[in-house]
Amino acid sequence: MKATKRSMDVSYAIRDVLLPARVLEKKGHEIIKLHIGDPNKWDFETPKHVRDALCRAVEINDNGYADSEGYVELRRAILEKERHKNGITADIEDCIVTNGVTEAIQTVSAAVVNPGDEVLVPGPSYPSYTEFTKFFGGVPISYRTDEATNWQPDVDDLRKKITKRTKYITVINPNNPTGSLYSDKVLKDIIDLAGEHDLFIISDEIYDLMTFDGTHHSMASFSNDVPVILFNGFSKVDLLPGWRLGYAVFHDPLGRLDEIKEGVMRQLRLRISANNPCQMAVIDALEGPKDHLEVTNHKLRERRDYVVKKINNIPGLSTATPRGAFYIFPKIESKKWKCDQDFVLDVLHNAHVLLVPGSGFCKEYGKMHFRAVFLPPVEILGKAFDAIEDYMNKVV
Ligand SMILES: Cc1ncc(COP(=O)(O)O)c(C=O)c1O
Repeated sequence: MKATKRSMDVSYAIRDVLLPARVLEKKGHEIIKLHIGDPNKWDFETPKHVRDALCRAVEINDNGYADSEGYVELRRAILEKERHKNGITADIEDCIVTNGVTEAIQTVSAAVVNPGDEVLVPGPSYPSYTEFTKFFGGVPISYRTDEATNWQPDVDDLRKKITKRTKYITVINPNNPTGSLYSDKVLKDIIDLAGEHDLFIISDEIYDLMTFDGTHHSMASFSNDVPVILFNGFSKVDLLPGWRLGYAVFHDPLGRLDEIKEGVMRQLRLRISANNPCQMAVIDALEGPKDHLEVTNHKLRERRDYVVKKINNIPGLSTATPRGAFYIFPKIESKKWKCDQDFVLDVLHNAHVLLVPGSGFCKEYGKMHFRAVFLPPVEILGKAFDAIEDYMNKVV
């Protein structure tokens, strides 16, 4: 019995690498896992008032289905956040709640992409954008982001890659996997380009409040009439990845995305609703104290500084400096390895550190790189990169 080609063709490098690591663990080896962007796996804790809010929601029996588009009070709170942070004014009908940003990516891709359509994604990019495009028969086209400028998008390259089949431009800022924080000029240039070619933009802002040197500005805040679908969620900044809650806001003053919104809404009704008690409780994350964020960003900045210095001192590796999120995307300069997949497997087997190959984020612009999270405390990051350095010194 055969699976469909579309299901066999998708992959998610971030979790695929876990399979060989599990084999080693079964043999009794301890692996330092720097592959997954889950802060709760390390010393970051969901704020107590948010955990309490979930207990309360369950206790008062808010355990039924929610509305398909999301609980109305939560959507109001989301819009208030977007108005306050980004100056975006949108109607309640323009805001939907999804099972993580992942479901927003899936349903918008499904509503927009016909076979053969092209979708522009940053290279390298978070894999869900390329994979869902492929899943619905589309063709992801990577535009270059430039390591020499801390991975800012190359707008000239983006311009060259727009064709008659292009459906939209994806922007991920702050970026996964590079940790880049985009300049206002780049964001405005991309808006202008989209306007010239009658395209809309998907702007993934899931790391918006996790920045170190500079402040995040929303793509939508620079757009007057170019439609922007803003994606955000609660997995990262609010330390709630397991709750699987995200949202999309359609910033679309001229109503050009109305049919696409309807296509998304139909899918949301089909899947019934996002988790109801978690939706109730997450209002407290939006409206309650945000003290945890200062602590989180302080730890991340310290770990970022440590790991940048450490990697740049390892012969055969070099790295740009991430300015947001919690990922670093170093270059494998050593000629000992022919491809990043071999490097990652060798490091796993010999240094017992789990990384993700850069090609998993883009075959062209991610090759000969790897992604690591700098979520663990400095002692653990030190242990991991010491082990990598020792191994590299032994074999080079
Ligand atoms: C840029 C980006 N978008 C979306 C997601 C998925 O988010 P969620 O947990 O809300 O599905 C991630 C997770 O790592 C991400 O890095």
